Amino acid sequence: MNSSEIRDKFLSFFESKGHTRVRSSSLIPGNDPTLLFTNSGMVQFKDVFLGQDKRSYTRATTAQRSVRAGGKHNDLENVGYTARHHTFFEMLGNFSFGDYFKKDAIHYAWELLTSVYGLPKDKLTVTVYQEDDEAYEIWKNEIGVPVERIIRIGDNKGARYASDNFWQMADTGPCGPCTEIFYDHGPEIWGGPPGSPDEDGDRFIEIWNLVFMQFNKDEAGVLHPLPKPCVDTGMGLERLSAVLQHVHSNYEIDTFQNLIKAAARETGCTDLENNSLRVIADHIRCAGFLIVDGIIPGNEGRGYVLRRITRRALRHGHKLGQSQPFFYKLVADLVKEMGGAYPELAEVAERVAQVLKTEEERFGETLEHGMKILEAALVKDGKNLDGETAFTLYDTYGFPLDLTADICRERNVVLDEAGFNAAMERQRQTARAAGKFKMATAIEYSGDKTKFVGYDQLQHEAKVVALYVDGSAVNEVKAGQQAIVVLDTTPFYAESGGQCGDSGVLMGLDGAVFEVADTQKIQADVFGHHGVLKSGSLTIVQNVKAEVNAEIRAQTMRNHSATHLMHKALREVLGSHVAQKGSLVDVEKTRFDFSHNGPMTADEIRQVESIVNREILANAATRAQVMAYDDAVKHGAMALFGEKYGDEVRVLDIGSSRELCGGTHVSRTGDIGLFKIVAESGVAAGIRRVEAVTGEVALALVQNLNNRINEAAAALKAQPEELTQRIGQVQDHVKALEKELATLKSKMASSQGDDLIGKAVDVKGIKVLAATLEGADVTALRETMDKLKDKLKTAAIVLAAVNDSKVSLIAGVTADSTSKVKAGDLVNFVAQQVGGKGGGRPDMAQAGGTDPSGLPNALAGVPDWISAKLA
Ligand code: ALA
Repeated sequence: MNSSEIRDKFLSFFESKGHTRVRSSSLIPGNDPTLLFTNSGMVQFKDVFLGQDKRSYTRATTAQRSVRAGGKHNDLENVGYTARHHTFFEMLGNFSFGDYFKKDAIHYAWELLTSVYGLPKDKLTVTVYQEDDEAYEIWKNEIGVPVERIIRIGDNKGARYASDNFWQMADTGPCGPCTEIFYDHGPEIWGGPPGSPDEDGDRFIEIWNLVFMQFNKDEAGVLHPLPKPCVDTGMGLERLSAVLQHVHSNYEIDTFQNLIKAAARETGCTDLENNSLRVIADHIRCAGFLIVDGIIPGNEGRGYVLRRITRRALRHGHKLGQSQPFFYKLVADLVKEMGGAYPELAEVAERVAQVLKTEEERFGETLEHGMKILEAALVKDGKNLDGETAFTLYDTYGFPLDLTADICRERNVVLDEAGFNAAMERQRQTARAAGKFKMATAIEYSGDKTKFVGYDQLQHEAKVVALYVDGSAVNEVKAGQQAIVVLDTTPFYAESGGQCGDSGVLMGLDGAVFEVADTQKIQADVFGHHGVLKSGSLTIVQNVKAEVNAEIRAQTMRNHSATHLMHKALREVLGSHVAQKGSLVDVEKTRFDFSHNGPMTADEIRQVESIVNREILANAATRAQVMAYDDAVKHGAMALFGEKYGDEVRVLDIGSSRELCGGTHVSRTGDIGLFKIVAESGVAAGIRRVEAVTGEVALALVQNLNNRINEAAAALKAQPEELTQRIGQVQDHVKALEKELATLKSKMASSQGDDLIGKAVDVKGIKVLAATLEGADVTALRETMDKLKDKLKTAAIVLAAVNDSKVSLIAGVTADSTSKVKAGDLVNFVAQQVGGKGGGRPDMAQAGGTDPSGLPNALAGVPDWISAKLA
């Protein structure tokens, strides 16, 4: 039975038992910050177990793509060293949401394994949680498993509920006792039953885990009962396939064999048992599907896991002697193996290959060099690898630590991880020290934080609490001085989150006018108003009226709100891999950097514009709420990866977008007015930049474009709507004229040529001709020259043309005379007199000059010059 059939039999069996077949969810858990990757089938149903989400069904079955390469469940390190660990695997599962419980779950599993898949009953052993008498009794009395093959497992991992038979999704979340089914691969393989000292051997292999979800574990480790008991089961397709295909290792099943052959083909390795091929086959599945689900190799979070996996595969390719990009070529094989079950893979295969290729090219540059450094270090000390070298490899050559560790492990070399961490920490300290230095030169302030009231007020009475001139604290600022003013309360927004600071004015009651050009934080939550005192004087504790420039603020807000809508629209149009990488919002525009491979097409840009403008037209009210970070993320707010947020965050709903943001925004989407993208470009590998304008700036842009179109149309005597057509006509017309002109020139030149024949003079047996051709270009000169040489037979000729004060010269000497006169000498004789120089073959030479005034004399002197040559 091949893997596809096994997968399908599972799903069909549970469909026949009233389960709804549900598609595999993405490897990125939707809005679940507790989890790096989807690590099992239950993840997409987490909220259903918790009672926070309802589905139209109470029974479901899935084949779920899963990754265990980071977080609570991590098998990355084991890949290539064991027969059944993978970074990526498929989990077959059946689920009950408050419907059936232990009894049915166990009966279904037994029926499927023994009646449908036909596994011998005596090859199966089961475990139950120590305290789970109910499950024990079902196995014993209803199924009839002999008691010596029902094993109770307690809290064997050192803490309450820390047990092989108590399953938890993550440190928090749904959990419960489980019963596991093991397959006995036979006494010829070393290993003991679960719970025995030899349980880690390969004889008894767990194939199916049935979890009786009963609790929700909170952060304090307290278990709260779920609203209803549920069932969550998981069976690794690869392990089951190994059993049903009578092979011992997962890597021997059909899917893996095909990928291993493909890896062998691309690396030139002929030994199909080679471990590196297994690693590559495992990693192409993981890397491939991570990219399908929107991850791009990067330096943090999920992107870094993808990078580590990809680079590890590349290193194994390198070990097999492949130094060219090869990994990306396996995407086609992956599609062949898994595209049927996962159509989403086939759909984006090209993009997946492209992303991998880019990463291969990037790492290819440093892999070779890094390996040399590593080899050198290993030659020096064959037993240990020092942390400094590992850090250099990491920092300069892009070797993730686990890649270096993998190499060390292969060679029985001990890697000094502590040394690596110390080197890393040192670098952090240096960076921090550099940061501190900057702070030390910044201004000193030890007062209260600034109270910001600018979300809904643009004017406010405030007290001056600190003043700085040239970076030093002062008690008074005098007219004409540049200064920084700190107020107790301010409506001025200080630059942050990509939005630039406000400008405006501070007015003292006694006539002081301080023009604020910019507002910047001088410390976290302390706002500095930068500007110049136009009149009067400012002193500490003085009261001022702070007034933000409303127009600039309004335009900036439009741009900021549009940024949120655009971010959302980009994800809609380009895919959920789009993540913000940087932004700048000012009065002119919004500039937004995001992850995406390759330029946006004109059509994609149009789509984004349409979506944003539709949201604007809907004119929905903006809503800002302050809430706990966890609640915000739970409510679907888009948090920026790598950005630090406090416990309390501001959640902003603008149209259909929901983001965490502290910036100032319009009160209704309609306030944004028109939205128009003006530029799209690349800023780094995998990062694009879009610039857009809104409101009056967008209007001005459109008006300006319109004016230019009208002007162009008027110049062409056309209506604006006919412009393109008219330009086409003009271009055709110009082409036709050029063609005509060329014909005429050549005709004219040749007729002049005919006239010239008579002007040749005989100098000692050679016909000498030196003349100007009116209106000729270089081509016409050459054509005429050929004709004249033909007609005059034995001749030395110079032809000149003058265009735009430039002289073109060509000299020709017939073959029978080149021993006497060289064309190069001849052309230079003339060229020198018109401010030029030239050269060429003895029978044909060209030159140019810049002084046409010398030409008549120069040409007139040619017969004498030749005569002298021949003497
Ligand atoms: N969620 C359970 C597991 O992953 C079934 O083992």
